[in-house]
Amino acid sequence: MQVRRRVYLDHHATTPVDRRVLEAMLPYFTEKFGNAASRHHAYGWEAADAVEQARAQVARLLNAQPSEIVFTSGATEANNLALKGALEFYAERGNHIVTVATEHKSVLDVCRYLERTGKAEVTYLRVDRYGSIDPDDVRRALTPRTVLVSVMHANNEIGTIHELAEIARIVKGAGVLFHTDATQSVGKIAVDVEALGIDLLSLSAHKIYGPKGAGALYVRSKKQRVRLVPQIHGGGHERGLRSGTLNVPGIVGLGEACKIASEERESEALRLQALRDRLYEGLIRELDDVVLHGHPTRRLPGNLNVSFLDVEGESLLMALTDVAVSSGAACTSATLETSHVLRAIGVDEDTAQSSIRFGLGRFNTEEEVDYAIDRVVAEVKRLRALSPAYAARSRTKSRGS
Ligand SMILES: Cc1ncc(COP(=O)(O)O)c(C=O)c1O
Repeated sequence: MQVRRRVYLDHHATTPVDRRVLEAMLPYFTEKFGNAASRHHAYGWEAADAVEQARAQVARLLNAQPSEIVFTSGATEANNLALKGALEFYAERGNHIVTVATEHKSVLDVCRYLERTGKAEVTYLRVDRYGSIDPDDVRRALTPRTVLVSVMHANNEIGTIHELAEIARIVKGAGVLFHTDATQSVGKIAVDVEALGIDLLSLSAHKIYGPKGAGALYVRSKKQRVRLVPQIHGGGHERGLRSGTLNVPGIVGLGEACKIASEERESEALRLQALRDRLYEGLIRELDDVVLHGHPTRRLPGNLNVSFLDVEGESLLMALTDVAVSSGAACTSATLETSHVLRAIGVDEDTAQSSIRFGLGRFNTEEEVDYAIDRVVAEVKRLRALSPAYAARSRTKSRGS
């Protein structure tokens, strides 16, 4: 029986666990199963040591101190803790938050909740057609009641990287806290909390070849200490900031993933960028009417987001059963809702519906990319051959030339 081949190009959604990460985790499920909070026996000490080693590994990747790392269940929880925790702690300063229209839902939905419950007022900054914000817009949005500015480092759909250092200078200059959701950038591009001037930073293990259900929030204590009100109570783990028995295998996996990223990030980024360029060039060599979304250069090395005009993204996804990618039309509660990111950069409805996000990762090969090009080109041509809109566009073009 012939095994059907499958190519995974959806690394913004999640990544496979690196074998080296799995190897590091395995003992902590079985022989080293202790509770890191058990102070009175070797099982507990062993687990606690492993957690502290992981904390140092995460800190090293970010150029932070180990004591500045709080383990969470992932970036969604880290974002919740950063936004709600800071707003509550600094309530006497005000209740205003500034964020960006293209943030991940784990920031936007927290902001909407805080607005709905009357706990915060939120300014959503607009982006340009590449998904970038104008730092002057940040300056203009600040008020004497602004507590926190939250700007993601790199966008999970279109890959655009924000100029964090410049934004942080403005924010910190006004005495306001600066949070970044760096879930997509950590381990992919340089993330240095000192150089970037970040106070709070969220990250997730499963985007960097670690396990699902583990993540961290960096909370600045150097220079100017940031305080938060915990959002999960009970037991006082993580210096009281995040109670709950620590997920030791997950944390060990996150630490190992960060260690590998510290060592391999730069060479991996070059390789992924070359693969991404190969993919894009392969597609535009064979197909016309391919529209690139996001910034042409300031983008994540493994990200490519394009629309194949006159091809419905969902139909293309269905046809590409052997190539795993995402569409810009997110399927939420059984409705095909257009991506809020594509809407924010001014992409029209039809073009947004025809968008596909490719996310390349550590284990992709040139051969896989070539296979994906062949498959996408074949399916786009087949679907376009059935599309009256494409036929009309082609006629108009040939009349014009
Ligand atoms: C930018 C961004 N922030 C936050 C998250 C949520 O991360 P987690 O799955 O760890 O909760 C994701 C995951 O898709 C993401 O891409």
